[in-house]
Parts: sequence; C-alpha cells; structure tokens
Amino acid sequence: MTTNNKELIVKKIENGTVIDHIPSDKVFAVVRVLGLDIIEDEVLIGTNLESKKYGKKGIIKATNKFFDNETIDKLAIIAPTATLITIKNYEVVEKKHLTLPKQMHNIVKCINPNCVTNIEEIDTMFSVVSEEPLTIQCHYCEKTMSDIKFK
Ligand code: CTP
Ligand code: ZN
Repeated sequence: MTTNNKELIVKKIENGTVIDHIPSDKVFAVVRVLGLDIIEDEVLIGTNLESKKYGKKGIIKATNKFFDNETIDKLAIIAPTATLITIKNYEVVEKKHLTLPKQMHNIVKCINPNCVTNIEEIDTMFSVVSEEPLTIQCHYCEKTMSDIKFK
C-alpha cells in the first residue's frame, strides 16, 4: 500500500490474525462467523479496497484473536480465496492460503427437516457439487443446497 499526503495506511497489528483477500460481499459474513461482532478487542475492517489480483477485496484485522480449525474451515467455505495471516510481535509468523474443502464434515446443517441428521445425533457430511456458485450435497438425504447454515 502506498502513502501520500491524502492517505493513511491501515495500521499494522501487534498480535492477532489478518484475513486478507476476502471477496467484498463476504466481509460481514466472515465477521459474524468469526464472532468478531461480539468481542472487546480492536477489529479493523476494510471492504471494497483496491486489489491487483481481485479487483476489489476485503480485509479484516482481528487483534489478539487466533482461530481454531473448525472456525478456519467455516472461513474457507465462505471465503475460499482468503489468506489467513498470523501476526506475533508485529511479524508475520504464518500465512495460510485457504481452499474450499471438498468434503464438509459436521460443520454444515442439512436444510431438509426430514434428514436423518436432523432427527438423530449423527455428524453431517456434505460434498461440493459446484464451486461457483457454491452448491453442496448431503451425504445422507442427497438434498443439494446453496444457502449454507453452519451447525
Ligand atoms: N500485517 C499487519 N500487521 C503486521 C504485519 C502484517 O496488519 N504486523 C498485514 C499487512 O497489512 C498485510 C498482511 O498482513 O495486509 C500481510 O503482510 P505482508 O506479508 O507483510 O504483506 P504483503 O507482502 O503485502 O502480503 P500479500 O502480498 O500477501 O498481500
Ligand atoms: Zn440431509
């Protein structure tokens, strides 16, 4: 990012997670899934920012937040183009390029009320049938869905 007397650079964070290259229309869905709407720590959110690769992008900087694998899987489903960057003492210590998982094990809820996964206590399992727009299919009842609800 360049600077001149008309701009301010979005500041670096000391510790936490930067989620870069989020499609702009997914930024607030990511905020909700990561629970960043209900925390006390500083969160910096940018959307519709210029990006060479994607035209426009979103970025989220979450101070003092580090996410577990289940949350990262959800993030990969909403924003598979995103990069997850771990910051410690102002340094980038890990940069992870997310990819859409081919199988989703027990993170998505089936929308079919008659599906066995909504009647009995069993883990859900979905496969991706189309990436763009995202469509997934339930392993048990074969229902396909594009409006994804996390468990
Ligand atoms: N970042 C941050 N705080 C830090 C270090 C980095 O907020 N202490 C952010 C940067 O602003 C950038 C991202 O983390 O958005 C990745 O940092 P870095 O790898 O240094 O930047 P680039 O090389 O520009 O990354 P890329 O090419 O992946 O966009
Ligand atoms: Zn089902």
